Amino acid sequence: MPIYNSIAAFHDEMTAWRRDLHANPELGFEETRTAAFIADKLRAWGVEVHEEMAGTGVIGVLRGPGAGKGAIGLRADIDALPMTEETGLPHASTIPGKMHGCGHDGHTVMLLGAARHLAETRNFDGTVVLIFQPAEEVGGQDSGGARMVREGMFNRFPVDTVWGLHNSPNMPFGTIGVRTGPAMAASDSFDVTIEGKGGHAARPHTTIDPVAVGTQLYQAFQTIVSRNADPVESAVLSVTIFQSGEAYNVIPARSRLAGTVRTYRPAVRDMIERRMGEICAGLAAAHGCTIRLAYDRGYPALITTAAESAFAADVARAVVGDDKVDSDIPPVMGGEDFAYMLEARPGSFVRLGTGRGPDTPLVHHPRYDFNDEALPIGASFWVKLVETALPRRA
Ligand code: NI
Repeated sequence: MPIYNSIAAFHDEMTAWRRDLHANPELGFEETRTAAFIADKLRAWGVEVHEEMAGTGVIGVLRGPGAGKGAIGLRADIDALPMTEETGLPHASTIPGKMHGCGHDGHTVMLLGAARHLAETRNFDGTVVLIFQPAEEVGGQDSGGARMVREGMFNRFPVDTVWGLHNSPNMPFGTIGVRTGPAMAASDSFDVTIEGKGGHAARPHTTIDPVAVGTQLYQAFQTIVSRNADPVESAVLSVTIFQSGEAYNVIPARSRLAGTVRTYRPAVRDMIERRMGEICAGLAAAHGCTIRLAYDRGYPALITTAAESAFAADVARAVVGDDKVDSDIPPVMGGEDFAYMLEARPGSFVRLGTGRGPDTPLVHHPRYDFNDEALPIGASFWVKLVETALPRRA
């Protein structure tokens, strides 16, 4: 079975919705117009609607005609990025500094298209929870996905499994990829301040030089991944900021090192944070200075479950064909806040290929635009997933 004919029949409408959302992007937790757009459509199709979830999120609940107890959650993110669009397209962002640069406009519309079809046909048994999540791009532990889980979404709308989808312009059009286990990285940031003792550069013995301490700290940090982490595990520790001093003849009083840590396994993440703290304390004692470490945990690693990832691959094969599905795509070191939902429930996260060739601008590029040709494929994937996971009993 390729895409649903009945979904292809309203491809033009989905394209119009997507371009409307694209022209009117809203940043995380400001998605009021977008949320109203979603809620109005769902209501018109007879879907039960709950608004103001985690601020500007929308939940739709669809029930099949039978008495089935199964329930699944399908999630789309709805926010735009703080960047200025350079596509020059007729439907380009009308707001400088705001752009749907990651295709969340397309994610929103693919789930809306599925909702419309499911509401009309109800060819399933059980409950589908449509999760339109705000603020995926804001980062940190107060992102939309984190807040929805923390504010009890899955208690209010219980689901057995939860599923997400992201467009991938770097994958060939119409392909679908999925991976079991760690698929995207935990994404943390750190900030270290070294308080030494400033003074004249010609009298170093009267100072505690925070640049000298900082270079040792930098070197010591590099041994965490190379000497403390199991070599078969993946981890990145990058110092991206090293600031100190202003004059040729002054030893400064302080220096600052900051950067990012990316990991897949929670134990590796814990180890790196712990070792950074130990190194800071040890170097402070060795040099008689003060070293403060602020370690800020961002999104956890996105970890899919095996059964659900295999199931998603089977559904994908039914929609786009065996030869267009890769059930073992490589992991990436980027972050994604759907990880919080996958911490709370089993599920998976698929990538839908939307490439237009080797020169396709990738997500977060100012000339990126979601590929509308993919709308009926994504919507069909969602519908097929629901009808397979929650089959209607005769
Ligand atoms: Ni995204």
